[in-house]
Amino acid sequence: MTKTQKPKKDYKFFASFARLLKQFNPSLFVLGFITISIVVVLSILSPIYLRDIINKVSSNFHTNPYLVVDGTGRVSVVWPKLIGAFTIIIGFYVGISIIRMISSVILIRVSAAYTYKLRKEFRLKIDRLPLSYLDKFTHGELLSRGTNDIDAIAESLNHIIFEIIYAVLMFFSVLIAMFIVEWRLALIAVATIPLQFGITIIIGKSSQKKYRAFQKKTGEMTSLLEENISGFEVVKLYSQEEKSIEKFDKLNKEMYKSNFQSNFLSMLIWPSLRFVGNIGFVAVCVVGGIINDLGGILAFITFLNLFNEPFQMLGEISSTIQTTFAGAERLFSFMDAPEETETENPIEIKKEDVTGKFSFENVRFSYSPDTKLITNMNLEINPGDIVAIVGPTGAGKTTLVNLIMRFYEINDGSIKLDNIDIRDLTRQTLRSSIGMVLQDTWLFEGSIKNNIRYGRNDATDEEIVEAAKAARAHHFISTLPGGYDFVLTENGDNISQGQRQLITIARAIISRPKILILDEATSSVDTRTEQAIQEVMNEIMKDRTTFIIAHRLSTIKKAKNIIVMSHGDIVETGNHQELLEANGFYAQLYNAQFLGTASALDET
Ligand SMILES: Nc1ncnc2c1ncn2[C@@H]1O[C@H](COP(=O)(O)OP(=O)(O)OP(=O)(O)O)[C@@H](O)[C@H]1O
Ligand SMILES: [Mg+2]
Repeated sequence: MTKTQKPKKDYKFFASFARLLKQFNPSLFVLGFITISIVVVLSILSPIYLRDIINKVSSNFHTNPYLVVDGTGRVSVVWPKLIGAFTIIIGFYVGISIIRMISSVILIRVSAAYTYKLRKEFRLKIDRLPLSYLDKFTHGELLSRGTNDIDAIAESLNHIIFEIIYAVLMFFSVLIAMFIVEWRLALIAVATIPLQFGITIIIGKSSQKKYRAFQKKTGEMTSLLEENISGFEVVKLYSQEEKSIEKFDKLNKEMYKSNFQSNFLSMLIWPSLRFVGNIGFVAVCVVGGIINDLGGILAFITFLNLFNEPFQMLGEISSTIQTTFAGAERLFSFMDAPEETETENPIEIKKEDVTGKFSFENVRFSYSPDTKLITNMNLEINPGDIVAIVGPTGAGKTTLVNLIMRFYEINDGSIKLDNIDIRDLTRQTLRSSIGMVLQDTWLFEGSIKNNIRYGRNDATDEEIVEAAKAARAHHFISTLPGGYDFVLTENGDNISQGQRQLITIARAIISRPKILILDEATSSVDTRTEQAIQEVMNEIMKDRTTFIIAHRLSTIKKAKNIIVMSHGDIVETGNHQELLEANGFYAQLYNAQFLGTASALDET
């Protein structure tokens, strides 16, 4: 189930970051920003204040406010004043810690609120995406986007926004402060910037590359596991365990390698930055000593630390930043995918007023541009007609249903319902007038009752039982523990395939649609049940336009119109007798089946 052609996009850090910021709750975010700014300002003011104290303390007693000279000429320290000055410094740091905590709490809320919003949007987006887009992803990939990517963003977003904003603010604030305090020392610090940037960018970039590889492999791994888990019976049956383990091992090894490389590289950043920082220290001490500014040197040691902080921070969290932004970017590309568009001024038509006339005019369609399927289809179906569509596997029968339901859009021509182009109706209007029982039965986790009621929300319990009786499902439902309250598992695999079909038939019956589509609706039930359902269906199909797709030709023998399809096009039409007499493709199909073993059963 590997699907190719994933949407490609370059890694756009700033674009993604700006987009994240834009979507945050603005008032909370501004509050977070203000608290971070206070932290930065306090962090810078404290060394400046410290410098003043140090310079005063170290000056001679004429200008030193912490020393007093008594009448005898004895110099003594004014302890309360000195302790007071240092208490203020400690106060700075206490204040920084408290405000830092507050800003963390605020930013955690910002990101939690955003993740909540994101999850909701993701869910809604899936509904608005055309199937042709979703086809490009395996279920594993979609799952990984909806869970892993959003989780990655959720987990690290608050951390990251704090660090990034803090780092940027700190960098510029310290830079300005350093020049104000002592421009000569500031120049030394500035001289280290290119080195720091170089290290962060070069190492960060290559680590990022490895990380992207790792992310990609993770997606592949999710798909592989999903395939293996959901198809494990098949894997075992064909003794493919070894092959699938081999594939898994290969992928796992590649993941290990890229994970190691990416982490190793981002780990390298720290010691390298430390080294550059230390060179800066030495230079500041030497020049500071020459210009004889002890307080300046001390202040600059703190400044240099603060100045290195942004680089170290960004270096350390670069891998987290990458997870988050790689996830965000993949998520955004998904969120940006073109949606199914609805017509601007849809024609309103009530479900009761639909007559069920269908026409296909020069319809052309294919799933992908390079494979032809339906090239030119013309078809006229009158209200209440029962149309049987037959043809070999892959002929395009289900495709026809997909087009009628507008699961896929035609490339050319038009499909009309009651003379209205179906593109002029909303999908909701179109689909609500059609009842469907498909090849792949779809049931959700919940009671049988609710699964049937899905067809029409206001159906009473009695109506549900009635529909189930009509669908020949009542008997088996009654034998289940809890009867109609029996809870089906997510994929409905605690009942048989045939029973699932009966439930979906009951669902279609209860929705009382004007148009009924049965695509291999009874392919999994035995012939006798099928015949019983057939009788009920004949009743239901009265005054309803019905499309029946069936492989067992005996089930459609009575249909007035039989459409024979092959390679996406209609090759013959007529009733059973006419088609047999024509001795064409239908006759071939019929005879092949008649001579086969299945037909013996069909005839009983
Ligand atoms: N989602 C899809 N994306 C791409 N190709 C598809 C898709 N669904 C079907 N096809 C292709 O379109 C062709 C027609 O498929 P379709 O499902 O309509 O056949 P069918 O007549 O219903 O066959 P069956 O009797 O086996 O159900 C096939 O060649 C199939 O491979
Ligand atoms: Mg089909």
